Amino acid sequence: MSDITARRWETFALFYDTEAPRAVPCYRHLHAEIVRRVGAACQDPFRVADLGAGGGRLLAAILKQYPAAQAVWVDSSPVMRVVAGRRLARFNGRVTWVEAAMEATAWETAVPDGYNAVVSSIALHHLTGEQRQRLFARIHRALKPGGIVAIADEVLGGDWSAQKRYLEEWDQHTRSLARAGRVSPAYLKLWKLFRDRVFPDPEHNPTERWESAARQVEWLREAGFADAQVWWEHDMWAVFGGRKE
Ligand SMILES: C[S@@+](CC[C@H](N)C(=O)[O-])C[C@H]1O[C@@H](n2cnc3c(N)ncnc32)[C@H](O)[C@@H]1O
Repeated sequence: MSDITARRWETFALFYDTEAPRAVPCYRHLHAEIVRRVGAACQDPFRVADLGAGGGRLLAAILKQYPAAQAVWVDSSPVMRVVAGRRLARFNGRVTWVEAAMEATAWETAVPDGYNAVVSSIALHHLTGEQRQRLFARIHRALKPGGIVAIADEVLGGDWSAQKRYLEEWDQHTRSLARAGRVSPAYLKLWKLFRDRVFPDPEHNPTERWESAARQVEWLREAGFADAQVWWEHDMWAVFGGRKE
């Protein structure tokens, strides 16, 4: 993310957190699928890191469902740190805070003996392909044997003309929420920033590095997750991951 884009994001981060469950297509499903996958793979108590954890909604769902789980929140946004701090306050003592870029090593060293799960929702597409490949190798190293990586994200959901169609549909969805008064003016400003940046040329936009879920599964396999798979995919949304043997 450029400095200017990052500063604008900070201005609107709070509104993203408030409106995302309604305004981002598939948002609730993405989180539910990760919670389910983590629960199927890990015995409570377990330790999970959330990369690009934002306002902490996914971690709140995991910590609520698995009452002995411990979590590491990882995000570079100070605003999201405050938002997540409020949301996760009721899980006092079960959350470790790492306010840093996920490309930095701080989250790996935050726990001495490794993770049972590493999750991420709608965040990794901000990294370049190379950064993601390096990150997948680091996630593999940071997991204990039997540990799971579970990623939900915006992906390239076909070719670029299909992607343009999905973006148009997302725009229609946002406009209809706006007409019904179901998203705030501040969220609409955030959406307009996104639209102006991305819609003119989605393939070469400066911030959203969409890759197909299938390609990212190949990267996971190269990183050592032999059984990596796409678990769910719809339009430009996908959940994928794998286990460390
Ligand atoms: C679209 S929000 C998603 C937040 C949350 N995971 C959710 O599902 O609601 C993306 C988050 O990723 C964070 N982020 C983006 N790039 C990052 C990076 N390189 N390192 C750490 N966090 C990053 C942003 O600060 C933001 O909180």
